[in-house]
Amino acid sequence: MKRIRKAIFPVAGLGTRFLPATKAMPKEMLTVVDRPVIQHVVDEARAAGIEHFIFVTGRNKGVIEDHFDKQFELEATLERRGKTKELKELQKDLPSAGHSSFTRQQEPLGLGHAVWCARDIVGNEPFALLLPDMLHHGPSCLAGMMDVYNETGGNVVAVNEVPKEQVHQYGIVGVGKRKGNGFKVTSMVEKPKAEEAPSNYSISGRYILQPEIFDLLSEQQAGAGGEIQLTDSMLTLAKSQEFFGYEFQGRIFDCGSKIGFLTANIVYGLERPDLAPELLAEIARANG
Ligand code: UTP
Repeated sequence: MKRIRKAIFPVAGLGTRFLPATKAMPKEMLTVVDRPVIQHVVDEARAAGIEHFIFVTGRNKGVIEDHFDKQFELEATLERRGKTKELKELQKDLPSAGHSSFTRQQEPLGLGHAVWCARDIVGNEPFALLLPDMLHHGPSCLAGMMDVYNETGGNVVAVNEVPKEQVHQYGIVGVGKRKGNGFKVTSMVEKPKAEEAPSNYSISGRYILQPEIFDLLSEQQAGAGGEIQLTDSMLTLAKSQEFFGYEFQGRIFDCGSKIGFLTANIVYGLERPDLAPELLAEIARANG
């Protein structure tokens, strides 16, 4: 079985749900406490053993590339001022030389198209795909998926339970035979009606996919919303390859939505011993 070495981070979307904040600034650079959302997600991938980080960017997203680059002047100044803790913090976040790639999706034609843009960099090997606005809180979700993949091979999606009345907003999977934290995916349905949904497990924005998905994406026509949808190609791939689910136990915050982003800041902030007492006091004060 081929090892998963590379991960794709599609960061070329327009972030319309978060305007005007995202007019000039990528939504992936919004900060949850003191780390950009994208950094939290890169941390998750690194904790799962990912070696090569592939960012599919677009116009106005240059700052993401800068974030993962050495900031020579800043580092020299921190060194001069004896701020070694901050300096070490910056250095540990950097992918090592040659282990990150940036490619541009020239038009935001959908998630499927963004993934397809990374095909040459990934090559003929299975890869991970992490949607950077979906923050998976807790132990690395991708690491849990790797454990499932190492037992099952094939394709793996992370899922989490959503309330029955919300299934129409998500991609929902059918749950087959279980094994540990994993199970066989028996069907995938995009945004089903509550009464037609095969379960209430939604695909949460983390995938391990086989490279054959790229051939399917090349042939795919635009679907819902005029965008090239990843789900359509996954459905075709599922006819010839197996899909497995990994049930993520932590909380998931959709940081592309205002409420998800605000809640994430509170939850991550309350975990920080240097911030929690004051933050709690401020929340109590704001509550009157
Ligand atoms: P979303 O649909 O959540 O992102 O796509 P969006 O289009 O930026 O957001 P809204 O709905 O307008 O607020 C999920 C992920 O896929 C990327 C986004 O950057 C996001 O991380 N994406 C989406 C692309 O890279 N290219 C696209 O054409 C579409």
